[in-house]
Amino acid sequence: MSKPLLLDIKNLSTHFQTDNGLVKAVDDISFQIFRGETVGIVGGSGSGKSVTSLSMMRLIPQPAGKNSRW
Ligand SMILES: Nc1ncnc2c1ncn2[C@@H]1O[C@H](COP(=O)(O)OP(=O)(O)OP(=O)(O)O)[C@@H](O)[C@H]1O
Ligand SMILES: [Mg+2]
Repeated sequence: MSKPLLLDIKNLSTHFQTDNGLVKAVDDISFQIFRGETVGIVGGSGSGKSVTSLSMMRLIPQPAGKNSRW
């Protein structure tokens, strides 16, 4: 029996327009989380872990950030 799918992230991008140009903080990521799984996001400082998490929760301030999903 397959585990229920809890979260399905498809082609998520979050880009910031700044005075110094476009910052592609998150650029086209996809992943799924199934019931019972524990998922960690690993990466160097500035690699986009926090922006990924905030984007998933729709907590990127508007209009500071533009998200591909809305
Ligand atoms: N509001 C914003 N405007 C412009 N750039 C931003 C904004 N928020 C984040 N960034 C940039 O997006 C990139 C990813 O940042 P993020 O905070 O997601 O990294 P992180 O992986 O969580 O880093 P750390 O391990 O230091 O917490 C960085 O280059 C950061 O400077
Ligand atoms: Mg962070």
